[in-house]
Amino acid sequence: MLFSKITGIGHYVPENIITNEYLETIMDTSDAWITERTGIKERRYFTYGKDTNASMAAEASKIAIERAGITPKDIDFIVYATITPDYYFPGPGFVMQRELGMQGVGVLDIRDQCSGFIYAMSTADQFIKSGMYKNVLVVGAEVQSTFLNHSNEGRGVAVIFGDGAGAVVMQATKDEQHRVLSTHLHADGTYAEDLYVKDPGSSRPKRFYDDLVEDNKTGDVFMNGNMVFKHAIVRFPEVIREALDKNGLTPEDIDLLVPHQANLRISEYVRQQMGMPEEKVMNNIQKYGNTTAASIPIALCEAWETGRIKEGDLVCLAAFGSGFTWGSALIRW
Ligand code: ACO
Repeated sequence: MLFSKITGIGHYVPENIITNEYLETIMDTSDAWITERTGIKERRYFTYGKDTNASMAAEASKIAIERAGITPKDIDFIVYATITPDYYFPGPGFVMQRELGMQGVGVLDIRDQCSGFIYAMSTADQFIKSGMYKNVLVVGAEVQSTFLNHSNEGRGVAVIFGDGAGAVVMQATKDEQHRVLSTHLHADGTYAEDLYVKDPGSSRPKRFYDDLVEDNKTGDVFMNGNMVFKHAIVRFPEVIREALDKNGLTPEDIDLLVPHQANLRISEYVRQQMGMPEEKVMNNIQKYGNTTAASIPIALCEAWETGRIKEGDLVCLAAFGSGFTWGSALIRW
């Protein structure tokens, strides 16, 4: 039997730190409002002309590939999750592939919003288990700052999101112990317009978005915050329990839960629902805001780098997001 295993992980965040105090100078908001509602203290924004979705992903991927002990030439497939591509098409996976000199390797773009990285990992897992690929690079990357409306009208959304990238290398293994145990994917399009953007393309100048927002609001992120909150706090625990049930495990067995960094209040609510202690839940939204498809690999990478994940640990990844989509992955590290 073939299974998949995470053998390398990396992340990259742009150097431009946007604090709550800075946001106070450009819109009518306050550090207290943002901290109380979301837990976020700062986020990163890309630097125009330096960072792109693809360039950040390339940096994260180089680290993941090196830590896996292989080279870009060994990768035989790329699965790339983003909702903020540099071009409307082709997706940034192709540009990153070129940057890393991996021409010829297949690229699959995944658009499943905040659950994108779980969908991407699950896809890689299936390709590996089927025997089709041995070394798959899985990426989550976002440049969301160009989509944000920093006027008072857009402040409820603008304060939440940030930019960044994360990547893992998933490799084939026959080891039944240390591997991805299962993945679980769900969606309900009933709520498609409760969190959505009509118009795409993060490489377009900010002016393009300002015009769109001015003219017809199609470039603006719309979020029905209450609806998102209500569904998120149900779907997160549900999909975590689904993964545990599938493997005959209980919440007490989880060594580290790495939730999509949607909002600290949501993660805290989920932790309490699952009866888990604080030290078993990874939170870094305070530093990076909500980075959508990049949030899980960034959080997973920081958890691993700081020694919060050890060999043999049971790690649960879980996400909820626009679509609505939700999913989980259970990993025996
Ligand atoms: N700063 C100051 N005041 C603000 C801001 C801001 N940034 N944004 C909104 N306000 C004001 C509003 O105008 C409103 O004022 P009013 O009472 O005079 O009308 C007041 O604050 C309350 O606004 P609400 O939108 O009702 O704020 P709420 O308490 O619901 O918090 C939030 C909004 C944080 C989005 C909340 O609904 C929430 O937690 N939702 C969950 C959604 C979420 O976290 N999404 C994350 C991304 S999606 C994902 O990853 C799944």
